[in-house]
Formats: sequence, C-alpha cells, structure tokens
Amino acid sequence: MPAVVVVGTQWGDEGKGKIVDLMTPFADVVVRYGGGANAGHTLVVDGHRVVFHLIPSGALHKQTRCVLGHGMVLDPEVLVAELEEMEARQLLAEGRVLISDRAHVVLPHHRLVDRLRDQGSKAIGTTHRGIGPCYEDKAARLGIRVFDLLHRERLRERLQANLERWRPVIAHFGEACPELDAMAERYLALGQKLSPWIGDTGHWLRRALDQGQRVLFEGAQGAMLDVDLGTYPYVTSSCVVASGASAGAGVSPLGIQRVVGVTKAYTTRVGGGPFPTELDDAMGEKLRSAGKEFGATTGRPRRCGWLDLVALRFAVQVNGVSELVMTKLDVLSGLGDLRLCVAYEYEGQRYEEVPPPEGWGEVKPIYEDFEGWSEPLEGCSDFAAFPAAARRYLARIEEVVGCPIRVVSVGADRRATLGLRDPFDGLPKLDVKPKAFSFKS
Ligand code: GDP
Ligand code: IMO
Ligand code: MG
Repeated sequence: MPAVVVVGTQWGDEGKGKIVDLMTPFADVVVRYGGGANAGHTLVVDGHRVVFHLIPSGALHKQTRCVLGHGMVLDPEVLVAELEEMEARQLLAEGRVLISDRAHVVLPHHRLVDRLRDQGSKAIGTTHRGIGPCYEDKAARLGIRVFDLLHRERLRERLQANLERWRPVIAHFGEACPELDAMAERYLALGQKLSPWIGDTGHWLRRALDQGQRVLFEGAQGAMLDVDLGTYPYVTSSCVVASGASAGAGVSPLGIQRVVGVTKAYTTRVGGGPFPTELDDAMGEKLRSAGKEFGATTGRPRRCGWLDLVALRFAVQVNGVSELVMTKLDVLSGLGDLRLCVAYEYEGQRYEEVPPPEGWGEVKPIYEDFEGWSEPLEGCSDFAAFPAAARRYLARIEEVVGCPIRVVSVGADRRATLGLRDPFDGLPKLDVKPKAFSFKS
C-alpha cells in the first residue's frame, strides 16, 4: 500500500501543482487532504495554463482518480465550476472524482466574514476564500458538512444554528447576513449537482491502499503556513504538512512511505507576516518580474526574497522529506550574484533552527554569497549541463538542508523538468493490517 505525499516546504506556491501533474502518471489515485480554494495550483501544458483550486492537480490524466478528502473545506460554487470545466474538457468519467461526505462546506458568509475581518494593519492578508471561518465552524462543531447538503431538513436546521453564530459578527460590520431560505435552496441545488461524486472517501482510500493501489497525496500551502508549525498567526487554518495527509484523508500514517518536498530556488510569500529574507529592493522586483510572481488565486503580487535554508531545513524535518524538488531555478539566470540564508541572528545569537515564536519578526538572516550565472537553463538536458555556479548553488543547499535535490524544474511547462522519476519506485510493500492478538500466545 504505497502512498507518497508531495508537500510545499515554504510559504506556498512552490510549484506543487506542476510536480503533482508530472507524478500522476505513476499513481492510481491523487488526493487533496487539506485546505480549500485558497490553493491555486498551476499547470502549463503545451503552452496552455490550467489552475486548480480544489480538484487535485492530477485531473488532466484520465486514468487516475481524484479524491477530495474530509480534511478539506469545500466551496461548492467553486467545486461545481471546476467539475463543469473538467466535463467540458471531457475529463469527467463516472467515478473519476470522489468527494468526501465529511468535508466541511464553505458558505457565503464565511467568505464575507473573511473579507470583512481581514482589514487594517494586523490583517493576515488571507485569500478571502472563507477558509478561516469555515475551519472555525468545524472546530466549534457548528459546521455544515458535504452530506448535509443532501438532506433538506437537516441542512436547514444546521444552517440556522450556524447563522445564529455569525449574524452578530456580520452586523458589527454593518453588513447584511445572508438569508436562510435562499441559502438553503441554493446549497441544496449545489448538493444535487455534486451528489454523483459524494461518498466515504476514507473507506474507499483505505481499501484502495489495501489492494496495493498507488496513492499520491497533494499538499496545499506550505509548511510555514501550517496552523501549528508556521509563522502563527500569519498562517492558514489547517494542517498542511505530510502528517495531515493521514488525518485529512482517513488513512494509516504507516502507509505513507515517502514525502517529496517542493521548494522554489528562492522564496515568496503572499499576504502578511514574517519573511526574514524578504527583499524590498530592485532584486526583489527582479525576482517578481522574472518569476511572474503574482498569486494564482488572488492575483496579488507575491513578496520575494532569497532562499531561506533555516525554514527549508525545518520543513524537511517536520515533514519527513527524503527528497526535494526545486522549481524555478531558471528564474535565477542572469540576475547577478545570489545569496542563501544559512542561519538567523536573534538577540545577538546565531540560530540554525527556527526561532522561539516571539522571535519570528525579529530575526536577521545570515547570508552566504554565491556567484550567479547568466546562461538560460531551459535547454539543459541534465544536471551536468548546468553552469558550474548553478551546481555549486544546488550543492550548498543540499549540504545545509541535509536532503538531496532529485528533481529540478527549469520552466513552467511539463517538459522543462530534469530528474523526474517514478515517486513510488523502490518503496517496500508494507503490511500494516493489525495482527490478530490473543492472550494465550
Ligand atoms: P503551487 O501553488 O505550489 O502549485 O504553485 P503556483 O501554481 O501557485 O505557483 C507556481 C508558479 O510557477 C506557476 O505559475 C507555475 O506555472 C510556475 N512554475 C512552476 N515551475 C516553474 C519553473 O520551474 N520555472 C518557472 N519559470 N515557472 C514555474
Ligand atoms: P497554494 O496551495 C500561498 C496564505 C494567504 C495568507 C494565509 C491565510 O497555492 O500554495 P487563508 O485564505 O488560507 O486563510 O490565508 O495563507 N495562503 C497561501 N499562500 N499559496 C497558498 O496555497 C496559500 N493558501 C493560503 O495568502 O497569507
Ligand atoms: Mg499556489
């Protein structure tokens, strides 16, 4: 029962979508396990750009099933639109998509509150997709789940209780709260559209794994946005790291045999919060324009900076990453000399690990300088063809982080990828079924 997880190791937008799309031909199933339409995963196929927000990035490969696990928060409006787009591309055969009946539903007032609250100098800079309020409802046990959309009376009852919670919040901002009847009808209709695809995805996945199917989990966001491990409170509201795949999809953690971490060759962050290696200068601008660093979900310009190896090493450790994929190395060609952040300085001390929580906004990066290269990388057919300066840059990253870089992406298109191989290759067949137990033995 081999399962592989692909995770972001920074603040999101590392290029996970491209990598999951490329690895999907080796998998039987591709699964999203957390987050929602805050994610924007971009694929470029023969020059055409496709962005997925909810449906896993394996969707273009017809033979692979796409599963949306119960750890996700699903906006039915976005989901129906993505399913319709798949249908228009003739990608939507019966049983191809499975949506968890237990996933939580993002409602119009979640989006409204997300936007109303996220203002001013302390704003998180959320994607305004209603993610935070929906996960709040989940934890408060007031959430609407996908299966509720299939039962009129149950839905109305739960929506009423849910609206009672949010009405005063919305009134505080002087806005009108959505009205129960119209919302219930709209969400019942959306539930009807989704009904052919809804089921117990956890049960289905456990069985698929028992049968030896290869399951590829697609992380959303990145480790530094994780609600526990990231730069709290400037984080998203879910568990984004590899262990979240087990909880968010309902499979044994013992089945996850490999974790692939995706990192950019530099760092970006969209939204507020600490970013030790941020460049507020001409180099930051150069990275943004060379890397086309504008959000796939919101279109916002991404903040740009040097690669932060303290954060990357942390992400490798907490995820159990055994191999890295580096994307966007091509963007560094012709930018001049480069820097890598190898440690932080905090209260006069050198930190090789992430700082204490109150230190995130205070740390200063300690850099090593690297000679850059001017040659474009797109035409390189293997790592040996990279300029020596690029090879030195990669070797130092591997050394500081303690993890090999196995794949390097040098362009947005599928073809601009070096070193890609079957991510399930060499994984042992583990039998994690509980053994029969007897006091007599
Ligand atoms: P994700 O959220 O991790 O899937 O990443 P996004 O799709 O939000 O952002 C990554 C962006 O970089 C997308 O526009 C990709 O098409 C693009 N991209 C991915 N890999 C490369 C690469 O190696 N080079 C360049 N230039 N662009 C890339
Ligand atoms: P992918 O999967 C980049 C960021 C938001 C904000 C914070 C909280 O494409 O890598 P939220 O809407 O989740 O409450 O916002 O998290 N954020 C992302 N940044 N990529 C993402 O997803 C993100 N998902 C959330 O910008 O800072
Ligand atoms: Mg993205």
